[in-house]
Amino acid sequence: RTVAVVLAGGTGSRVGLGIPKQLVKIAGKPIIEHTIAVFEAAPEIDDILVLMAPGYVDDARGIVEAAGFRKVRQVLPGGGTRSDTTRLALDAIGPDDCNILFHDAVRPLLSGRIVRECVNALWTYQAVDVAIPSADTIVEVGDDDCITGIPVRARLRRGQTPQAFRSGTIREAYRRAADDPHFAATDDCGVVLRYLPEVPIKVIDGADENIKVTHPVDVHLVDKLFQLAAARAPRPVDEQRYTEELTGRTMVIFGG
Ligand code: CTP
Repeated sequence: RTVAVVLAGGTGSRVGLGIPKQLVKIAGKPIIEHTIAVFEAAPEIDDILVLMAPGYVDDARGIVEAAGFRKVRQVLPGGGTRSDTTRLALDAIGPDDCNILFHDAVRPLLSGRIVRECVNALWTYQAVDVAIPSADTIVEVGDDDCITGIPVRARLRRGQTPQAFRSGTIREAYRRAADDPHFAATDDCGVVLRYLPEVPIKVIDGADENIKVTHPVDVHLVDKLFQLAAARAPRPVDEQRYTEELTGRTMVIFGG
């Protein structure tokens, strides 16, 4: 069994629109609906679990119901931090052995290819990350904003999601993390790396489009990418004919 966990427990303060960014509409649908639709359509995924910002759980349930998503088993409130939300997801999934993919709700342009490659990699690895090469040089700075190091760019990649795990591995990493009073993490592979350092974490290729809506400009970027994707999609025959007619008329107008 493979479970996709959609992490939507955040409030989107950096986008700053007054509602959680996963509820912002792009291409006519809330961002989270686009994201869930990818897992709903992926043959590798059996169950979907949504963790939503407390106070907006009913909104998420309404979206799931209206869209008719059949794989969504539960929509639950998320936690105070992203890691708290992951923990709540692990509690909800229970002790069964399964594959678990954690994905940011605000990466709506996830592809079926990435989902497939994550699940396939779990046949060999217990933990899988998704990343892309860094186009920018990454500089490390100290408290005084002065450079302390410039890691070799060829070895750096930018982490995306999903992050995929065998359930026993991610559960054990979080169990050990619970004993650490200094625990802090921004992602789940970081928890495995820190508390189960003997476990290799395979990295598979992400995609430039798989961006995380983080700042206001990202809303525009993702909107544009959806427009481009729609333009590439095959059009229904009627619409094609209509376009041809329109082009014909346009030519007449130009010709006249
Ligand atoms: N997330 C979560 N639970 C939290 C915090 C974040 O499930 N307590 C989720 C977000 O909903 C998002 C993903 O983790 O899908 C990535 O986090 P981020 O982009 O930091 O989202 P926010 O916390 O909502 O953004 P901000 O930091 O701007 O408030």
